Amino acid sequence: MTVRIAPSVLSADFRILGDEIAMCEAGGADWIHVDVMDGRFVPNLSFGVKVIEAVRKCTQKTVDVHLMVQEPEKYFDDYVKAGADVLTIHVEAAPHLDRQLARIKELGAKAGVALNPGTPLSAIEEVVHMLDLVLIMSVNPGYGGQKFIDYSVDKIERMRFLLDQADSRAVLEVDGGISRDTIQRCWSAGADTFVAGNAIFGAADPRAEIAVLRNLCVESA
Ligand code: DX5
Ligand code: ZN
Repeated sequence: MTVRIAPSVLSADFRILGDEIAMCEAGGADWIHVDVMDGRFVPNLSFGVKVIEAVRKCTQKTVDVHLMVQEPEKYFDDYVKAGADVLTIHVEAAPHLDRQLARIKELGAKAGVALNPGTPLSAIEEVVHMLDLVLIMSVNPGYGGQKFIDYSVDKIERMRFLLDQADSRAVLEVDGGISRDTIQRCWSAGADTFVAGNAIFGAADPRAEIAVLRNLCVESA
């Protein structure tokens, strides 16, 4: 399994977003994670199409858009046009999951679904075959810099089992509180893609931190 490190630009310095992304690339980042928040599904409000467009102009890497918004389907067309490679919607905000995932794929993007810590895996069992990505939230979404929720590890393990059982090659991503202290447990449980905001942008040397995080997985492989 390949390790993917996906810095979350939510924790970047927005005055110099282009430089921050270049720094992540120089450090070996695989994906760039972009957190869209609407102030309704989650309490916080972040950014939308203009920032996705700007990120797209800065990088050739996969632009991984995490939609923490109600009625996410309102944004699919614009965000794919703006350059999103992956659109991940929250199952708690997507009652018509089958139709919404199909639409994302129709637009040519990869379709992902995210689950809040309190949402059971059974909420997505029926659509596993449609998924390009599953995102296990290891914090309650809305803010960077929160503490990792330990029971996420067991959930990752059970999700890995479900994906294997379905012969799915979907990406298994984890988001929230990923750091030197938590990444290895998630990797051992079967996650392959790791979003990190605070751990990378808050590090003394963000570039080196990306390598540190990756090596913690590789070494324990
Ligand atoms: C949280 C966001 C995350 C956030 C992660 O709601 O989805 O992507 O940026 O930040 P850290 O790594 O600081 O927990
Ligand atoms: Zn996120």
